[in-house]
Amino acid sequence: MPSLTLNDRPVEFAIDPTTPLLWALRDVANLTGTKYGCGSGECGACMVLVDGQALPSCTLSLADAAGRSVTTIEALARRQAGGGRHPVIQALIDEQAVQCGFCTPGLVVAIVSLLAANPRPNDSEIRAGIGNICRCGVYPRLVAAVRRVTGPVVEVVSAPASAAAGAEDTPAAEATSVVGE
Ligand code: FES
Ligand code: FES
Repeated sequence: MPSLTLNDRPVEFAIDPTTPLLWALRDVANLTGTKYGCGSGECGACMVLVDGQALPSCTLSLADAAGRSVTTIEALARRQAGGGRHPVIQALIDEQAVQCGFCTPGLVVAIVSLLAANPRPNDSEIRAGIGNICRCGVYPRLVAAVRRVTGPVVEVVSAPASAAAGAEDTPAAEATSVVGE
């Protein structure tokens, strides 16, 4: 019987180990915050953290998850020590990046995973790092929400070679740009 750590608690599933993790979570553990979208690893609606990394639970079997630590949206949605929401969830709410909400659990998981690996992503890295599909099209608000968590990121933009010769005349403000404000 596959055993794993689920939302910080040891659990053992007395079901077929080839069962997709998504259905073990939803139908057996009654953790229905993780959603079913495409069923083929494309949309991100079913994402959970596996040892801290966002992975689609629809393409992982229970056996794949055995011995690992799985965190679902239910754990991330718990009130924080001070009583507030998880900062990623609060930022999505503040930026009105929650429309129908179907994709939101997977988005939260994807953002948490991205920020764990890269705490200060620029806008391009946010777009590249979060491949979740949102049928309501919250993508611009998504970037704003991540930026709300991280604060603005300053990118140094290299001057073209032709401008380098006259660099003394170039105001410093033109050599850098603040991304995400
Ligand atoms: S339902 Fe798993 S990635 Fe779409
Ligand atoms: S908010 Fe509706 S699918 Fe993303």
